[in-house]
Amino acid sequence: CTVLVDGRRVNSCLTLAAVVEGAEITTIEGLAHGDTPADLSPLQAAFLEHDAFQCGYCTPGQICSATALLEEHRHNTLSTVSFETGNLTAPELTDNEIRERMSGNICRCAAYPNIVAAVRAAYNGGRA
Ligand code: FES
Repeated sequence: CTVLVDGRRVNSCLTLAAVVEGAEITTIEGLAHGDTPADLSPLQAAFLEHDAFQCGYCTPGQICSATALLEEHRHNTLSTVSFETGNLTAPELTDNEIRERMSGNICRCAAYPNIVAAVRAAYNGGRA
């Protein structure tokens, strides 16, 4: 149920509407720039390219979460893994960093390896 509220990821099912009144809310539908495959966000395209889903139930939340993840990483936001590596100024976005930063999003189909690959591909593409 992850959506973006003013660019930050939140669980929509645990968020009171009154608390986010006036905020910019972005769902999976708001990440694409149009209705054609070419209009998909780089993360949406990477999820397709890397088969990063099976049933697709968790996919909107995974992509919204990964969108915020890349933005957080751009701003050098730290995770638990960052502290383990000791790089606290500009943490490298390793697979462990991606796994840790995506750990709140559960996939019952266990598409995790492909989700990590998709996030990495979008990151290497330089955009989210
Ligand atoms: Fe089925 Fe994630 S793709 S729950």
